Amino acid sequence: MRVRMKVDGVTYEDDVEPRKLLTHHLREGLGRVGTPIGCDTSNCGSCTVLIDGDSVKSCSVLAVQADGADITTIQGLATGPEGTGAEWHPVQKAFQQHHGLQCGYCTPGMVMAAVDLLKRNPNPTEDEVRHGLEGNLCRCTGYQNIVKSVLSAASELRGDGPIAGSFQDAPEPAGASA
Ligand code: FES
Ligand code: FES
Repeated sequence: MRVRMKVDGVTYEDDVEPRKLLTHHLREGLGRVGTPIGCDTSNCGSCTVLIDGDSVKSCSVLAVQADGADITTIQGLATGPEGTGAEWHPVQKAFQQHHGLQCGYCTPGMVMAAVDLLKRNPNPTEDEVRHGLEGNLCRCTGYQNIVKSVLSAASELRGDGPIAGSFQDAPEPAGASA
C-alpha cells in the first residue's frame, strides 16, 4: 500500500506491506534506528514516538495506520540552526544532567513519553510522573533518576530553571549501605 507520512519534519511516500509495524517501517524504511525495539509486543515502551503530538508505542500500530500522520522520533526532537539537531530538547538535557539513563535502551521511549506527559501536565507531581511513565520499562536505573529528570525538565519548561544537583548529590537511602 502507498503510505505517506511526515517524520521528523520530512515527508516520505513509500510502498509498505500492510502487515508491517510502524516501528519496523521507521527503522528499516526510514532510517530512524534511534527508535529501539525492546519487545515488539507493546510492553516495554522503548519504541515510543509522537504521532500527531501524542505518544504512541510504534510497535502497536501498523505503518499503514499512520498514513497521513505527522510523526516525531527521538531523532527529530532536538532543534538547532537549520534543523541541525544542535540543541537538545529540555527533556534530553535533563536526562543527561540527572543521569536518567544507564544503558540507554529505554531512553528514547522514556524521553518521548515524557515530552507528551509534560505537554499534557506541565507541573506534574512525582506520583504523576511515575504514573505517566508506567508504560515504559527500564531495567537499569530503578526509575529514581528518570523521575528526577522529568521533574527537572518540567521546571525548565515552565521557565523556573532545572532542578539543581544530580542523583549522586542525594543522600543515601536509609539502610542502603547495610
Ligand atoms: Fe514497542 Fe516494546 S518494542 S513496546
Ligand atoms: Fe537501561 Fe533503562 S537505562 S533499560
